[in-house]
Amino acid sequence: MDFKEKIRVIPDYPHEGIRFKDITTLLKDGPAYKAAIEKLAEFAREKKPDLIVGPEARGFVVGCPLAIQLGAGFVPVRKKGKLPCETVQAEYSLEYGKDALAMHKDAIQPGQRVLIADDLLATGGTIQTTLNLVKQLGGEIVGFAFLIELTYLNGREKLGDEHDIFTLIQY
Ligand code: PRP
Repeated sequence: MDFKEKIRVIPDYPHEGIRFKDITTLLKDGPAYKAAIEKLAEFAREKKPDLIVGPEARGFVVGCPLAIQLGAGFVPVRKKGKLPCETVQAEYSLEYGKDALAMHKDAIQPGQRVLIADDLLATGGTIQTTLNLVKQLGGEIVGFAFLIELTYLNGREKLGDEHDIFTLIQY
């Protein structure tokens, strides 16, 4: 399947010069959504994760079906102030803006195998922060899976070279 053809590119959104990759056109196409998650699952299954960790909001629409497909648990990473129990937090930069991410302190037991999933690897800020939160809690990172990678932003460099990174579509 040509997954790239399922992504809608919006010029100058949300700012001039940004070509926004809109995944809603992939998500509303049942067979394409399923096939995309299955591709990520082929990669992820070999890593034998106990948990899939995904940042809000679009990381949920990738991470949750992936977790179900693998029979793994799902742990949400949320923007600060959204989780009700005790959290670890870290600041992060976006392609456009800044915020802080949080995870429940008891979300991961030390040594649990964690695969991190999101829709998009752009600058890598979101996922690097997610990686730091998982490390703080003692999780063992076993890989990263994304629908889309913007290779020209070199986000992968922030993740080091000791982990396998799978991306379905590249720009
Ligand atoms: C987007 C996207 C990734 C992140 C990628 O999320 O879903 O999580 O940006 O960018 P980066 O690699 O430069 O960090 P956003 O923070 O816009 O939140 P949303 O999913 O709630 O829309």
